Amino acid sequence: MDISKLRAQTGYITLDDGYGNTGSCESAITFIDGDKGILRYRGYAIEEVAQHSSFIEAAQLLIWGELPTKAERDRFGQLLGENAALPEPMRRHFSSFPPSAHPMAILSAMINALQAYDLPHLKIDTPEQFEVAAASLISKVRTLAAASYKSSIDEALVYPRPDLKYAENFLHMMFSKPYQEYVPTPEVAGALNLLLVLHADHEQNCSTSTVRMVASSQANLYASAAAGVCALWGPLHGGANQAVIEMLEQIEEQGISVKDYVARVKDKTAGVKLMGFGHRVYRNFDPRASIIKKAADALLDKMHIQDPKLELARELEAAALSDDYFTERKLYPNVDFYSGIILKAIGIPIDMFTVMFAIGRMPGWIANWKEIHDNPTARIYRPRQIYTGPTPRPFVERRDRHHGIRS
Ligand code: CMC
Repeated sequence: MDISKLRAQTGYITLDDGYGNTGSCESAITFIDGDKGILRYRGYAIEEVAQHSSFIEAAQLLIWGELPTKAERDRFGQLLGENAALPEPMRRHFSSFPPSAHPMAILSAMINALQAYDLPHLKIDTPEQFEVAAASLISKVRTLAAASYKSSIDEALVYPRPDLKYAENFLHMMFSKPYQEYVPTPEVAGALNLLLVLHADHEQNCSTSTVRMVASSQANLYASAAAGVCALWGPLHGGANQAVIEMLEQIEEQGISVKDYVARVKDKTAGVKLMGFGHRVYRNFDPRASIIKKAADALLDKMHIQDPKLELARELEAAALSDDYFTERKLYPNVDFYSGIILKAIGIPIDMFTVMFAIGRMPGWIANWKEIHDNPTARIYRPRQIYTGPTPRPFVERRDRHHGIRS
């Protein structure tokens, strides 16, 4: 139902707390049928994109709408290579963050800082300028992520290598040292590529809606993406991948049984959620979770890792899926439930997990920003509200204030 004229015609507005039933835009990028567990990028099933596509191909598909030809792949690959390194002065920014700074805080700040170098006039006027900006953001978000990790462990920042593919180059900047090159196995690089593909877009989730909200004010691409990073950070959204591993660690360390933990989750007064479970849109299996679970099994097997957390996650999933609390509410594992197992096996530190999600989601944010930017009839996003505060009252002079804020 198009209700955009409802208020003008009737004086009424609709109320939909948390936008559970509100379409905020028309979009041609990503399709989800949450009841059937279907996810498609520009019409292509996620299962097929995941099986056949590199992250960069998926990014081009999302941003420009079609799978790229070889010439288009080569051209974008070249732009990614040319834009992989940070402007030299930006390398110094990292030392100004305290060691306790969360990598997501550093990432959002640095994306805004990058805008000053990449887009000094704050405007994108031509498709060519947009392509360079998109390549720069996709390429540098990975350089920034690796640099924030290196600076957090007081190690020299590693320059990107133009000869490496996207995932390999990130792993190189994360784990190489000036005196020792890190070479990932094909399985590790493949698992990372897969994770990035699966995170690349997910229609109007919290961070993408944030990007669109900011973009609707005609804010620039970098400012919009930095806002997306902040929205992604929360534990109900991208921060859930970190929260899942912390939950598994807590269960392990405190020797809590699966049965007891599930009981805690069901006890609403305990305020405990089964992190990595549930989704606003999926009322069925999250197709990304099924792919990631298989990939986690395969990677750990190949690497000969026996992570008790994988076993624990499997037990938790089985216990939840056979419990009425979860089945009645249609709560299934989401993308974050098994992704941390893969990231941990690759050697990514836990507080970098959500940064990995941000690297993956960057193409989706850019595609959504472009959709607004290219739409000549786009309007600023400006929801209404139902006011529930005090009715009009006379101002209280300082001398007459006997009841303060907290009383
Ligand atoms: N553990 C226990 N109970 C849950 C959970 C959970 N993970 N998720 C939902 N519920 C319950 C919730 O308490 C509510 O129960 P009741 O009907 O008795 O009040 C019912 O299920 C419906 O949940 P909701 O909170 O209305 O659902 P929502 O659509 O507002 O929230 C969610 C979706 C993803 C925020 C929520 O399921 C959640 O907090 N999950 C854990 C965090 C998580 O894994 N987030 C990652 C989401 S996927 C990656 C991404 O795109 O961000």
